[in-house]
Amino acid sequence: MKAVVFHDIGDIRLDDRPEPKIKEPTDAIVRLTASAICGTDLHLVRGGVGPMKAGTILGHEGVGIVEEVGKDVRNLNAGDRVVIPSTIACGYCAYCRSGYYSQCDMANPNGSRAGTAYFGGPESSGPFDGLQAEYARIPFAGVGLVKLPEEISDEQAIMLSDIFPTAYFGAELAEIKSGATVAIFGCGPVGLFCIASAKLMGAGRIFAIDTEQSRLGMARALGGEIIDFNVEDPVEALYRLTGGIGVDRAIDAVGVDAVTAHHGPAARRAKKNREQFDLELCEIAPETHPDGHNWIPGEAPSQALIWAVDALAKAGTLAIIGVYPDRARHFPIGKAMNKNLTIQMGNCNHRKYIPDLINKILGGQIDPLQVLTQREPLVSAIDAYRAFDERQPGWIKVELRPRGTAVRAK
Ligand SMILES: NC(=O)c1ccc[n+]([C@@H]2O[C@H](COP(=O)([O-])OP(=O)(O)OC[C@H]3O[C@@H](n4cnc5c(N)ncnc54)[C@H](O)[C@@H]3O)[C@@H](O)[C@H]2O)c1
Ligand SMILES: [Zn+2]
Ligand SMILES: [Zn+2]
Repeated sequence: MKAVVFHDIGDIRLDDRPEPKIKEPTDAIVRLTASAICGTDLHLVRGGVGPMKAGTILGHEGVGIVEEVGKDVRNLNAGDRVVIPSTIACGYCAYCRSGYYSQCDMANPNGSRAGTAYFGGPESSGPFDGLQAEYARIPFAGVGLVKLPEEISDEQAIMLSDIFPTAYFGAELAEIKSGATVAIFGCGPVGLFCIASAKLMGAGRIFAIDTEQSRLGMARALGGEIIDFNVEDPVEALYRLTGGIGVDRAIDAVGVDAVTAHHGPAARRAKKNREQFDLELCEIAPETHPDGHNWIPGEAPSQALIWAVDALAKAGTLAIIGVYPDRARHFPIGKAMNKNLTIQMGNCNHRKYIPDLINKILGGQIDPLQVLTQREPLVSAIDAYRAFDERQPGWIKVELRPRGTAVRAK
């Protein structure tokens, strides 16, 4: 089968790989009908999150048809159409039972304290072969896989595998309540779904901060009040637009590949932080392999966090869903402490949110297709990665279609 394989930092290839087989009685084999590229994949290829094991199939977003189930999968049949949650969880440990699927004690073969188990991630996350492939082995399939109603298309469902649940989780961590004034840093696919989620939770005002014009355009279309950090200092703009008070809630939907301003008033302030950002970069991404415009890590890992803490009103809440590796150690703790901020963060407990989000789509409360801009065959995955990595205009969320995607529903 064809699969997108990690060979080295800055070196991913479309390879032929053997089809996966059932290994455990709790496994299922799924034939993928849709996959996608995520900002998390970019961190892995740029070198900010890792180390990756060479040979790991990338991708943690998938929709497909169950081909075969192990003998301990009792709730699914071959032919079922399912969405695959990015994180892998056993369903029986205390964490899973209380909804903390991303902190499962059992799923990660490196041990209960090794971190979140997910498809197509670094060595420390399993590693498990990922979902940018024609077939995948799904551990604990009876727990993770969620059957899809026929009314929901593959294109809608692929948003449920990771980014919509993550954004919804982020909005929940930010404690967004009716009327809240919210700032969302990052208008990539995750940030855009944060806008949609904040709206579902009744936010009064939603500011959206980025610098990529097509992403800001989509944020505005979704109802965000946009701020381009290369035109205005985002912190000053947020205070000015909120009567000097700041925002009640902020979400970091950027993560370790944050960049800083190169133009406008924020660029002057960023210059003062240059030494610190360089130090962070050395610690976080000691090895990088840039290739022209590709695979260049963000040059200011803590920038979104600094702006978010600065822009929050006293006693506000910050949610961090942007991904940072263990070796990221820089956070403006003093400012946060002295403002009595609440800070919540983490990897999404995808399985907890998917059924409810399916109902929200069925009920017409949201159409996740608003954020999907590209539909590419899996065989064009490497070019698609490059375009998404460069943030080419209009390349916001990329669906990858493995062979045989004509089949949409049973
Ligand atoms: N916690 C989780 O479970 C989880 C799940 C999925 C994705 N993520 C993470 O969410 C983050 C966003 O994912 P994505 O797919 O939208 O990524 P993306 O790379 O497409 O988007 C990131 C956006 O942030 C913008 N940006 C960069 N620096 C910024 C700054 N200083 N301030 C504001 N905006 C800035 C970029 O221009 C870009 O548009 C990533 O870190 C990803 O790893 C987390
Ligand atoms: Zn993802
Ligand atoms: Zn568990």
